[in-house]
Order: sequence, then structure tokens, then C-alpha cells
Amino acid sequence: MNCCDLINKTKRKKKLTENEIQWLVNEYTNENIPDYQISAWLMAVCLNSLSDDETLALTLAMRNSGDILDLSNINGITVDKHSTGGVGDKTSLIIGPVAAACGVYVPKMSGRGLGHTGGTIDKLESINGYRTELSLNEFINIVNKTGFSIVSQSGKLCPADKKLYALRNASGTVDSIPLICASIMSKKLAVSADCILLDVKYGSGAFMKTYDDAKKLADIMTRIGNMAGKKCSAMVTDMNIPLGRNIGNALEVAEAVEILKGRCNGKLYDLCLDLSAKMLELAGKGDFTSCKQMASDAITSGKAAGILEKTIELHGGDARIVNDTSLLPQPRYSHNVYAEKSGIIQKMDSEEIGMTSLIIGAGRKNKADSIDMSAGIIIEKECGEHVQKGDLLLTLYSSSITDFSEANRRALNSITIE
Ligand code: URA
Repeated sequence: MNCCDLINKTKRKKKLTENEIQWLVNEYTNENIPDYQISAWLMAVCLNSLSDDETLALTLAMRNSGDILDLSNINGITVDKHSTGGVGDKTSLIIGPVAAACGVYVPKMSGRGLGHTGGTIDKLESINGYRTELSLNEFINIVNKTGFSIVSQSGKLCPADKKLYALRNASGTVDSIPLICASIMSKKLAVSADCILLDVKYGSGAFMKTYDDAKKLADIMTRIGNMAGKKCSAMVTDMNIPLGRNIGNALEVAEAVEILKGRCNGKLYDLCLDLSAKMLELAGKGDFTSCKQMASDAITSGKAAGILEKTIELHGGDARIVNDTSLLPQPRYSHNVYAEKSGIIQKMDSEEIGMTSLIIGAGRKNKADSIDMSAGIIIEKECGEHVQKGDLLLTLYSSSITDFSEANRRALNSITIE
């Protein structure tokens, strides 16, 4: 096969065969095709898209480029969940224990945060001692014991995606729905849970800026998951404003604990119930309404909080945080952000709030940067609320900076009061 022929086919909107796509992925992963040729093909995909069959072939070729987990030793039906990421998204820490409390198994691999978005692994590492890197056997043993575990994604999963994603970042070819779909779904299929729930976010803090694009991505990911033999479903959810009140690693763990203890309601709680119910429905536990009731009962009974506690302990972490969140890393400095005028809060821009949290140490600009686990933001007023000039809008926390002037400016910039 010849790479130029395949580039030309996609350029002329002709379909590639499964063999041709497999060949492209394998030869590129084995370094037999140079970056510039694959960049040209990726650009042709961005411009002309791929059919579902081609996207499935690309997804499976990428999945098959590395390890595929064998979860057959887990004692029941497994459900994975993926969020396309955002600001303040701590749902995995909540819905994993909730779904497990309702009798499904949740073996989850997660990533780290980059830029304005957070990552579940960073949040978990804010718990003293919590080990995110476990052998497959340790991972499966914990899932069998508590129903739930989150570890960091194994470096051996989908090496083709690692290479292709880096190249897409460098060649302006990230924003293609079939390429995003293949990248996400190859990793999900390599984890190989029986069912997959996708939480596709749209809005300012999300990868997909509009509802329509998020819906398109959700639809194709669901189709590809189903074509690959998985029970797969998606929800399209709002990321125009941050999720919940707390942003930042330890702060988000604390908020997740509060939700699991039944002490918070609001949008985050509602979304967690919906996501948990969807996971349970996928796993055949009943219809959406009865699954939602089961999820709510798992919180009020304390069973879900108990599962989080046991899981943290089995990961070597300080499980006392579930009963005393002051044992999480505490910030040395704080700074209040006050309203500069009176009016109604019309907008809280997720991306700007995410960038503010980055400035105060809660996130990383580059993959190798370290994180201040205690840093973050507590949102004191909600979108739609009336505020007076001088009212407290946000509190910023950090142990790594004392000069909050730039963060204060960005924080104010994120909030529109009219
Ligand atoms: N997340 C991924 O893992 N891949 C993409 O292409 C986009 C977001």
C-alpha cells in the first residue's frame, strides 16, 4: 500500500477500506510512515470527514495498537463512564460509588488535567497516600471488593492514539468529530467494560463549544460503541458554567464527599443522579426512573459514601477524609473576589474560571508541571443571583502564590453582572 494513494482517496472523498485504515495506523505507530504524510491525511479527514465504517475501523485499529484490559475476572456487569472534560467536573468520584452501591461494577481509568480542565487522577492524588498506579490484578481485586476503583490510564493503552493526538495538536487537526470519536472510543474500548456512558459536555469550558457539535459527537461515539459490541449511551450536558461550587483538586474531593453524604443539592447533585441512573439503566438494573430512585437511596443510606471510604483505603489513601475533609491539603493563603457593581449574575464563564484556577496553582499549563493540591476556587454566588457591589463572589485559595492580582482580574472577567 502507498500512503499517498490513501491521502488522495480521503482528499477525493472516496472511502478507505478497513485494511487500508489498519495499515495506516499500524505503519504510523511502527514509525514506517513520517509525520508529514499522516498530517496530510488527518487534514483530509478534517475537511472531508469519515464514514461510520471508516471511523469504526480507525477506532478499532487504534484500540488494537496496545493492551486491551481483560476484565473477565470481575464478578458482574461492568460500566465505564467518560466525560469529555470541563471545569469542576468531579462526577466520577460521586457516580462511581453510587453505581457500585446499586450493584454494578465500575472499573475506571482516568487522566490528568491540562490547561483549564481538571483531571480525576489529580483530584484523587490530593488524598494523602492514594495510589493511582496499580497492577491489573490489584485494580480488579478492589473492583471486586467495593464495586469501584479509579486508576490512571496505563501507558500501554492505545499507543497509536498517543502519537496521533500529539500530531493532531501540532498540525491543527484536533477539531474533527470522527478523529475525536476514534481517539476517545479507542481508549474506552481498550478498557473493555461491558457498558459505556459518555458525558459529552458543551459550552465555554468544554471541548465542544456548541450543543449541536456536542450532540454530533455524542451520536457518533454512541454508534461506534454499539458497532463495537458495547452497550453505549450518551448524555449531552452543559459546561457553560462550572460544575458545582468547588474548583481545584482537594476542594473538589471535599465537594464530592459532601454530595455523597447527602449534604448538597443543586445542579451537580442532579447531574450525578442522572448519570448514575443512566449507568444503572445501561447495566440492566431497571428503567431510568427506578434507577434514579436507587441512586438517590444509595446516597441517603450512606452506602455510596461507605464505598468511597473503603475504596480509598484499599488504594492506600487516608480514608478518614470521608468523615473529615479538613484532612485534605489545606491552602495557606486565600483571597476574596468582590462584585464591582450591583446587578444579576448573567454569566460565569467556565473557561475563564478554569484559567483563574490555573494561575493560582490548581492546574498545569504543560504536561510536566506540578500542581498545588490545596489550590482552587469556591464559588460563593450562583448564576442568576442578584448581587450588590462589594458582595463576595468567589474565594481563591492557594499555597503557592501570595499575589492574587492577576487571578482577581481574571476571576472578575469571568463573571458578567448586568
Ligand atoms: N480527548 C481525547 O482523548 N481525544 C481527543 O481527540 C479529544 C479529546
